[in-house]
Amino acid sequence: MENKIPRHIAIIMDGNGRWARERGLPRAAGHRAGVKTVREIVKASLDLGVPVLTLYAFSQENWKRPKEEVSLLMELLDYFLNKEIDRLKKEGVRVRTIGRIEALPERTLKKVKAAMEATRHNDKLILNVALNYGARTEILDAVNQIVEKARAGGVPGMNGSGLTEEVFSNYLYTKGLPDPDLLIRTSGEMRLSNFLLWQLSYAEIYITKKYWPDFAREDYLKAIREYQRRDRRFGDICAEDAAGR
Ligand code: FPP
Repeated sequence: MENKIPRHIAIIMDGNGRWARERGLPRAAGHRAGVKTVREIVKASLDLGVPVLTLYAFSQENWKRPKEEVSLLMELLDYFLNKEIDRLKKEGVRVRTIGRIEALPERTLKKVKAAMEATRHNDKLILNVALNYGARTEILDAVNQIVEKARAGGVPGMNGSGLTEEVFSNYLYTKGLPDPDLLIRTSGEMRLSNFLLWQLSYAEIYITKKYWPDFAREDYLKAIREYQRRDRRFGDICAEDAAGR
């Protein structure tokens, strides 16, 4: 398993609501069960030596959900950070976020910032939580920063032939992180849902029908094993053909 561990795994955690409905439970129960899965997958990532794990916890579009559900999701994030912060700190996890976090409720924002601060020297696993995240907004935020810099006199790193991918990437929320090698989506949906549109360009995609609360360590290992079997070509020809080149 040590072989070719993805440097960055991104996960669209989906299916909490359906998991609950199928059990005749309120949606809240699904989200609570989803937090348990988050804990398990963080632990598994540490055990496997995955350097970066990005979790899509709350999208910009999620504000459209009923007020009570939005509040619950914020509370669950508070609860997770309260309960886990000491362990995260001890185990070498660094909490980071992507998204416009300033729009989060004040209490949650404070908790998130405290978690980032408390873990900022850790480097075993970066737990990157997408909160109020939207990929198109991320790209526009980058473009607008660049435009502003250009107006103010110049964009560092930009030469006569324009911007490079590397320079542009430095304006994204994921600055400094490698692009995801593997994207996992639970609950069988075949969508990107405005997630990491730039960064997922070459990611391997793994979709499982399992709902997020049912997604266990074994399923995570299965996804990584499948990734390890894939022949990543990045536009080149396959390995067998290349051998005969
Ligand atoms: C998708 O299920 C799940 C979410 C939108 C929220 C995920 C959030 C958590 C698991 C809790 C807090 C996060 C952390 C990092 C502690 P859905 O509600 O869209 O499911 P459905 O499509 O079946 O309705």
